[in-house]
Amino acid sequence: MNPTGWFQLGWSTDFGPEAVKPLHYFGSDLVAYRGKDGAIRVHDGHCQHLGAHLGYGGCVTDDGIQCPFHGWVWGPDGRNASIPYQDRPNKSRRVRPWPVAERNESIYLWHDAEGRDPLWEVPDALVAMSTHVAGRDFYPVQPSHHTGLRVHPQTVAENAVDPHHFRFVHGTPISPVVVDEHVDEVTWQTVVGFGKRWMDHTGPLPDNTLNTIAILFSGLGVSFNAEHTSAGVRMISINVTPVDDENTELFASYWIDHSLDGSDDHYEERLNEAMLALPDDLTIWQHQRYTESPALATSEADGFTRLRRWATGFYPARVE
Ligand code: FES
Ligand SMILES: [Fe+2]
Repeated sequence: MNPTGWFQLGWSTDFGPEAVKPLHYFGSDLVAYRGKDGAIRVHDGHCQHLGAHLGYGGCVTDDGIQCPFHGWVWGPDGRNASIPYQDRPNKSRRVRPWPVAERNESIYLWHDAEGRDPLWEVPDALVAMSTHVAGRDFYPVQPSHHTGLRVHPQTVAENAVDPHHFRFVHGTPISPVVVDEHVDEVTWQTVVGFGKRWMDHTGPLPDNTLNTIAILFSGLGVSFNAEHTSAGVRMISINVTPVDDENTELFASYWIDHSLDGSDDHYEERLNEAMLALPDDLTIWQHQRYTESPALATSEADGFTRLRRWATGFYPARVE
């Protein structure tokens, strides 16, 4: 539960102006707040003075966040900015800041057990999924937060190479085929196609991506998929964030596009349909046991083997 990468902690709408919230991820008590400049910041949660939790009653000031206990103010860099009853701050103390990104109407936290600065950026989903979403206009995100899980982030990433679960978990008549794939150290990107048209597809994706799903993983913590059906395009993000060594939370985001003909009568129906798949996956994931050497069929062995090798790059090196 200690992978390096970006992990979602919520949505932009969770943090109004000057909002302050206690959080707990990666075994750490944290405080998140939206500063007066509009930027989201996350710090270790406990004040360096006498340990009060800044997330419970702390408030935003011009200089950062003020502790509810004795009013010490901590700046965006985590340094002590002022002590109300002393003429100079305590320059040697800071509440550790965590790197944060706000993008895709979502808020992400950078975690690295080795303490490195972010090694990559959170992708802009509309740019990263452009073959599927170009020219589309989406409704605001529909968020869905699931807590108290024991689903490992890698379990979700393995979905990217698992065409055969679609038949059994999601009830598709046949398994999709992989029609495109790009992998680098950080990103796993694939397109799967459903139906005859895609069975023998080779070569570059044509403009018409009908009946395909583009899937993108940016590390193990951030994923998007964009599905193009006859009803339109929908984009879904399924992100698992570790809470501690055993527990996780899942942030699901749903974006439905406006109909091309301007009639938006089917938004609710399409949203509900988009939200149908996750509960089925979750039932499996919640009770699945990670199998170190899985028994794999021929058509899935290459994908799983390569994905698991890719995934090893996100874990801190083991010290023997
Ligand atoms: S504990 Fe934060 S100011 Fe005293
Ligand atoms: Fe699934």
